[in-house]
Amino acid sequence: MRTTINQIKDMKQNGEKIVMLTAYDYSTAKLVDQVGVPLILVGDSLGMVVLGYTSTIPVTMDAMLHHTKAVVRGTEQALIVGDMPFMTYHASVEDAIRNAGCFIQEGGCQAVKLEGGVTVTEKVRKIVDCGIPVMGHIGLTPQSANQLGGLKVQAKSIDAAKQLVEDAKALELAGAFAIVLEAVPARLAAIVTETVGVPTIGIGAGPDCDGQVQVINDILGLHTEFVPKHAKQYANLTDIMRSALTKYFNEVKDGVFPTSENSFLISKDVLARLKTEYATKK
Ligand code: KIV
Repeated sequence: MRTTINQIKDMKQNGEKIVMLTAYDYSTAKLVDQVGVPLILVGDSLGMVVLGYTSTIPVTMDAMLHHTKAVVRGTEQALIVGDMPFMTYHASVEDAIRNAGCFIQEGGCQAVKLEGGVTVTEKVRKIVDCGIPVMGHIGLTPQSANQLGGLKVQAKSIDAAKQLVEDAKALELAGAFAIVLEAVPARLAAIVTETVGVPTIGIGAGPDCDGQVQVINDILGLHTEFVPKHAKQYANLTDIMRSALTKYFNEVKDGVFPTSENSFLISKDVLARLKTEYATKK
């Protein structure tokens, strides 16, 4: 039985921290699920950490659905959130509803996330009216990086900080079941968290949010080109993988791998007949 949005909301009421992580493929999602993480985001961050783009802008619905399906297949208990990519909910309410519907119907996830505050509330409300849970995302919204002038901390001025609180309130009113706060000052995130009744999930928003989300490649040390200040590396999988790959490379080159332990047998009869028909070295 998968986690429900009501259980996520209850966690805020009960003061229980909400753990959320991204995942993009079957095997990794399976591990994250087995650890007990109740919320998994198939983030459009996959554009950078899986597909090698320099931003989330080129990510398409097709790519998101492809990865969402894999994550859904790998999980049993987590609530899976599909991240709506750039320009799939911006042009019209109809686009927003249709693409959110694709995530649920085709992708098999249980909720969608979209970026923006007051400006996207009509879309949030209409998607929720269709029975699709929506997670909001405010503060640093990477799909607007060009407009924001880069990936930097947001809401530092009094006007921008007040706007962030208003955005959170508007998203709650529109029916969002949770709100991601990305790259905002910790004390402001605490005020937002106290102001709204739905859970806030922080990423670079300090310890007082109701929950935390991280890009899995960042915390496992798998994406080392750029490690955000807010990420903590719990492992260095890059080094572990490099050493394993080097060992494999050398063993194949040296004829050490494979051995008879990694090989399949053939019956003596078949081998004898083969040897009579073909010249073999061994
Ligand atoms: O795409 C993503 O991974 C995200 C998280 C950073 C919240 O939006």
